[in-house]
Parts: sequence; structure tokens; C-alpha cells
Amino acid sequence: MTTLSKGFSMFLLSALIMVLLVMIVLGFMLGFTHPLPWVLIGVLIIIPFIHQRIIGNRFVKWDDSLSVGIDTIDADHKKLLSLINQLQTAAHYQTDDEMIESTLNELVDYTRYHFSREEDLMQAANYPDFEAHKQQHAAMIEQVGKFINEYRVDKTRTIDNVCQFLKTWLINHINGSDQKYAPFLKDKSQ
Ligand code: FEO
Repeated sequence: MTTLSKGFSMFLLSALIMVLLVMIVLGFMLGFTHPLPWVLIGVLIIIPFIHQRIIGNRFVKWDDSLSVGIDTIDADHKKLLSLINQLQTAAHYQTDDEMIESTLNELVDYTRYHFSREEDLMQAANYPDFEAHKQQHAAMIEQVGKFINEYRVDKTRTIDNVCQFLKTWLINHINGSDQKYAPFLKDKSQ
């Protein structure tokens, strides 16, 4: 969603709330026993919950099925998901550029740190697919670097693409490539 459409949807939400408030006041003119204003109050109360639910779908949640069974790696993955959600929040609420840029930088730094930790473990265990896995990490870092450069040129359009890419990439990577090394690394460490 672009900044413009986000702004428009917030405007629509505010306008809907204003219309409901006016209708509630007018509804009470029909009498306090008339059901219309009470029904409208009910609608007004559930709007924030519906809004929150729609927004909530944009965030990624940790699920035990994502666990690779190695505590340090799971902790890294949880931290990365949390940073992606932080970035999504900053993008959704259109916080200042400095905040978005600092979250992006923290995300890239932590991703590098996590990849390096994971690669050390794979190498120490002589994991046979180590090189292929390492290349996936390098390609991801390169893609994020491109997004960051694009973001600096066109802030409004890029940030949602970055969030979407990071969510999809990380979940697919954990569920795919990371899960493949999990039994191998656990066997070697026993
Ligand atoms: Fe957890 Fe291969 O990144």
C-alpha cells in the first residue's frame, strides 16, 4: 500500500467514525429507547477491533513449526521476525524517515550477524550443502542492499516492497533451507 493510499484509507476511517458519531447524536433525537443509536454505538465499538485485525495480518508471527531445534538459531530467527514487524509498524504509521532507516540498518546488521553465526555452525559440522546455503544468504543481503538504495530514491513506494520481501524470504528460507540443516547440525552436536 502506498503512502497516498494509506493516507486515504486513514481519511476514510476517520470520516466513517465522524459520520457514525453524527448519526448517533441524531439517532438519540428519536428517543433513548430507539434501537438505531445503540446499534450504531455497537458498530463504533467494533471498528477498532476490525481495523486491528486487518493491520495484524501484515505482521509475521513466530510459530513453533519454524523452530530448527537449536536455541541460538531460533532466538535469532525470532529477533529477525520482530525487527521485520518493527519495520512494518514504522512503515504503516509513516514514522519519520530516520526511524525507518535506523530499523532497516538494524535489520541488515542483525541479518548479517545471524547468517555468519549459522554459517560458522554449518562449516564446523561439515554440512554438505554449506556453499549453496551461504550463496542464498549472500543473494538475500544483496537484494536487501538494492532495496535500501531504492528506498533512498523513492521512499514511499519501496518500504512496503522491502517488508513484503523480507517476510516472504525469511519464512520460506527458515521452512526450507534452514530446516534441511537442522537434523544434520543436531546429529553432529550430539
Ligand atoms: Fe537462518 Fe539460513 O538463515
